[in-house]
Amino acid sequence: MIYLNGQFLPLADARISPLDRGFLFGDGVYEFIPVYHGKAFLLIEHLQRLTRSLEAINMKDVLTAKQWADIIHTLCAQDPAPAQGIYLQITRGAGPNRQHAYGAQDLTPTVFAMAITLHLLSDMERKTGLSAITTPDTRWENCYIKSINLLPNILAAQQAYTRDACEAILLDNGYVTEGSSSNVFIVKNNMLITAPKSQGILWGITREFILQLAQEKNITCLEKPISESDLQNSDEIWITSSGREIIPITKLNEKIIGTGIPGPIWQQVENHYQYSKEKFLS
Ligand code: PDD
Repeated sequence: MIYLNGQFLPLADARISPLDRGFLFGDGVYEFIPVYHGKAFLLIEHLQRLTRSLEAINMKDVLTAKQWADIIHTLCAQDPAPAQGIYLQITRGAGPNRQHAYGAQDLTPTVFAMAITLHLLSDMERKTGLSAITTPDTRWENCYIKSINLLPNILAAQQAYTRDACEAILLDNGYVTEGSSSNVFIVKNNMLITAPKSQGILWGITREFILQLAQEKNITCLEKPISESDLQNSDEIWITSSGREIIPITKLNEKIIGTGIPGPIWQQVENHYQYSKEKFLS
């Protein structure tokens, strides 16, 4: 069952006009919210970002936080998986024809949501870590908008896939922006470093939460530019997102990072992340 425009219905019965501007132009925004044992994690933060994305493309909120919470509850109640994610997408809706400008008319937004089972780190991956690659960041300047226009991200992710890596880390003029669908952290000399918030990256909810957790553990956190050589010479690399939590990267472009296994700072923040999740659930 999925949610579409006010109704819960089987995926196979869902119908959207081919004139929907999401389909024609990628004219819309989305969110992805982790749901643990039926409870949406950091929901308010995700909904605030949704409002910010909508405002940035001249759209208004379509549902209240209570309405979203009810939709999430209904969708996740179908599946007992302990870790799920809610994908939600709002497009500007279907126009009368294919015109780039949406004009003065008030279109009815298309609102879609579905639950997805999360596949978090396996026991083996926790021991070995995963691989990533680097590739140029070819995206636009407004990546803080969680736009459904994801072609450069998709092409970067596909490059990672073909090289047996779990993520493509994007470099803009020799500096790390973020991953194709994640934020990036490095550890150097016990300091945790991530790129500063700018319009060129998504303001990850997990990124913000990790900065808070690290401070609680008295780990020095720096929000400053990370060069390609900082990345290559780091002690630890992590990629973070709502769908994958905190992934330790132990190989970058087929070369070993740090000691080649997930590092001690990752372990410390990861433990605290899992503990905070448990606390939120109790
Ligand atoms: N992606 N940067 C990009 C480009 C992303 O697509 C994502 C998340 C993040 C991490 O943001 P957060 O911590 O709020 O999930 C950073 C989601 C999960 C997706 O595209 O499905």
